[in-house]
Amino acid sequence: MSLPQAIERVLLDERTIARRVAELAAQISADYAQAGELVLVGVLKGSFIFLADLARRLTVPNRVDFIAISSYNRGSISTGVRLIMDTRTPVSDRHVLIVEDIVDTGHTLDYLMRAFAARQPASLRTCVLTSKPARREVDVTVDYLGFEIPDVWVVGYGLDYADQFRTLPYIAALKPEVYQS
Ligand code: PRP
Repeated sequence: MSLPQAIERVLLDERTIARRVAELAAQISADYAQAGELVLVGVLKGSFIFLADLARRLTVPNRVDFIAISSYNRGSISTGVRLIMDTRTPVSDRHVLIVEDIVDTGHTLDYLMRAFAARQPASLRTCVLTSKPARREVDVTVDYLGFEIPDVWVVGYGLDYADQFRTLPYIAALKPEVYQS
């Protein structure tokens, strides 16, 4: 397989991701088997591929919705989060699963958990494909986690660098000179 020039190495190949997504879907389907409908809330843009694969493997009734957030950054430091597009589905008294591609500092997920908890869902959990524990600044609970990954810039399977590389079928580390230049 020839890799794009900017890619240093593949961390999680297609098969590894597919296997883990299937496991997560099986676990979620078992946990919500008696719950009725599940509302999957994907956080744009990064979650769109993970959510699409996960949702198609669920065996429980579900509906899919999306939110978009914007982060205020000071250099590479995330300083604040704001909701810029909300769900169309009212979530009160419904079972809500927030679906993310990555948890890094934790600020985004922390903000989302508070924002959705205030809407009084029947239940509220999180499903995140990748986590960088070394970068955490706030404690967040990830109920369903795909993989812990090292503190390197990762792209592919929804993850981007300057909106590039999201559609690579694997998750890969970017060459440091690409983002350090
Ligand atoms: C990424 C990711 C999370 C957030 C995690 O989004 O999708 O939403 O960063 O970072 P945190 O734990 O430090 O808050 P990004 O801002 O890159 O937008 P995108 O999903 O549109 O790529």
